[in-house]
Amino acid sequence: MMIDLLTQAVPTQNERSQTELTRRIRQLAKEKNAFILAHNYQAAEVQDVADVVGDSLGLSLEAKKTNADLIIFCGVHFMAETAKILNPDRKVLLPNAAAGCALANSITPESLADWMDRYPEHKVVTYINSSAEVKAMSDICCTSANAVSVVRSLSSDKILFTPDRHLGAWVQKQVPEIEMAIYDGACPTHDVLRGADVKKVKEGLPDAIIIAHPECRDDVLAIADEVCSTTAMLSRVEKYPDAKTFIIATESGMLHQLRKKFSDKEFIIADGCIGCRLHCPYMKVTNLFDVYQSLAKEIYEIKLSERTMDDARKALERMLAVPRDN
Ligand code: 13P
Ligand code: SF4
Repeated sequence: MMIDLLTQAVPTQNERSQTELTRRIRQLAKEKNAFILAHNYQAAEVQDVADVVGDSLGLSLEAKKTNADLIIFCGVHFMAETAKILNPDRKVLLPNAAAGCALANSITPESLADWMDRYPEHKVVTYINSSAEVKAMSDICCTSANAVSVVRSLSSDKILFTPDRHLGAWVQKQVPEIEMAIYDGACPTHDVLRGADVKKVKEGLPDAIIIAHPECRDDVLAIADEVCSTTAMLSRVEKYPDAKTFIIATESGMLHQLRKKFSDKEFIIADGCIGCRLHCPYMKVTNLFDVYQSLAKEIYEIKLSERTMDDARKALERMLAVPRDN
């Protein structure tokens, strides 16, 4: 039989090696009883090899309940640390040791101690994008999916919110009765986006719905139709059955799950330029080969002192007892 080489879709070398790596990763994960978690910002092929894809809150809950021998966390360092703290008997691996987080790095135990000295009466609410040591000093953690409920749960009229100033300002708008001191950290990936950039994209798409992550600046959040965590973006789309186009103000990896779930809708990145600026270099440092190596060689293992884990777990468990906002 003659094969029509012009019409046959021939996989590229890259696609062939991705398919083969995916097959090997799944086989090794089965042999080693490993559970692979991936954040919504990971590269598409890394999301596709995972057992579960989600936001920080969803992945923390998954990490807490798994009985797998190995947890492979395709995300950034603080997320893998959180998985270790919540499930300390498991071996937790971060496939690429360079997967840090600029926002988490913006707060250290020393800088938090300094802010705590300035606000001694305030309860400390720390965003999950922080190190285990910083969590260990905090009263409670929060994520973008539960920050308002966490702040309300404290029955305190004075809160020190760390480290993200945009998420903090967004929470403050919803709880004006609470006095919030807000640390001055920000995520460079989200901070680069301006309301004017989003307005420009919207000008060409007047019927589009804007969905933004609360790590964006307030001029972006002010024009958004919805503000929520990454996974909640998937359910927010369902609120608009007649809308055809959505402008997404967060890291570009989010488009993968949105396009997979809603193949009949169009998703445009909010700066109008896929992966140009809304691209987290830490999230994108992990590739399929790293995941394969991580499983094969059992690298890079997350190790923390028992003391830090015990203290950080208190702040995380308090958070997990609070329901999601979105
Ligand atoms: P989510 O918890 O909404 O997935 O966000 C995590 C994050 O790092 C955002 O930059
Ligand atoms: Fe950290 Fe920002 Fe990357 Fe999220 S997008 S992991 S907050 S640097």
